[in-house]
Amino acid sequence: MENILRIAVQKSGRLSDDSLSLIKECGIKFYNGTGKLKSSATNFPLEFLFLRDDDIPGYVADGVADLGIVGENELVEKNKDVVVLKKLGFSKCRLSLAIPKSETYTGLSFFQGKNIATSYPKILGDYLKEKAIQADIHEISGSVEIAPSIGLAEAICDIVSSGSTLMMNGLKEVEEIFRSEAALIGHPLMNQQKKHLVEKLLFRMNAVQKGKSSKYVLLNAPNHALDKIVSLIPGMRSPTILPLAQEGWSSVHSVLSEEQFWENIEELRAAGAEGILVVPIEKMIL
Ligand code: PRP
Ligand code: ZN
Repeated sequence: MENILRIAVQKSGRLSDDSLSLIKECGIKFYNGTGKLKSSATNFPLEFLFLRDDDIPGYVADGVADLGIVGENELVEKNKDVVVLKKLGFSKCRLSLAIPKSETYTGLSFFQGKNIATSYPKILGDYLKEKAIQADIHEISGSVEIAPSIGLAEAICDIVSSGSTLMMNGLKEVEEIFRSEAALIGHPLMNQQKKHLVEKLLFRMNAVQKGKSSKYVLLNAPNHALDKIVSLIPGMRSPTILPLAQEGWSSVHSVLSEEQFWENIEELRAAGAEGILVVPIEKMIL
């Protein structure tokens, strides 16, 4: 029991699918039926707790869970004693101030003396203090976006991702106050065995993340252009060059970031590269 890691993930919502896919991509197998609150992996000492995202920082700080996957929005708002082990790059969103579409926005002073509904009283409070705006923060735990239309508040401060929730509720975003993405967090103290398991998990997560941002590129090139092409796609150590059956031609294989590939594509073609294939990489260990 001691040597099983417990990870808290969001039960349902913006984070849950990506959190579980990341763990699956790490080669960890588990079953999560709908409505299940707990589950265990079958091939890694990992136990899952499915919780509301708001509760995850607290569970990890208390040591009920060793690890958690949560948005930085909840992390900063709850301000618990946990360690950020890795930023995960998904569930990107922003915390923004929004007002009814019909209002004219005049700048931050608009909020002076206003009533703002939010589930993020700490982040909003700190922000307003820094900007020297006095406003009433009305804390509510959900459906913040309907507060203006029912007369509960004159503005809101809430998570915006696609922006469709604001639009459907006749609101417009006027100030972004915080940016967030998902992060893997951990309890500050763990025994050696747990630490070792966390390292194993992080190693796999890094391999998945690195793989996602890289591509395996294969192309054919005339031999006289090889030097130029190799300089454009340097690869991990150096590209692989194999002779083609056709005299004077080679096949060049390399690994590079997708960005690097697009930046160099015109030069590659100008240098004589053809039959270019770009293949996804599942995992990458350097
Ligand atoms: C946020 C926010 C909105 C929605 C905005 O909720 O409260 O409901 O996301 O997304 P959109 O801009 O794409 O429409 P969140 O996922 O944080 O859920 P929770 O507040 O229930 O935890
Ligand atoms: Zn939430």
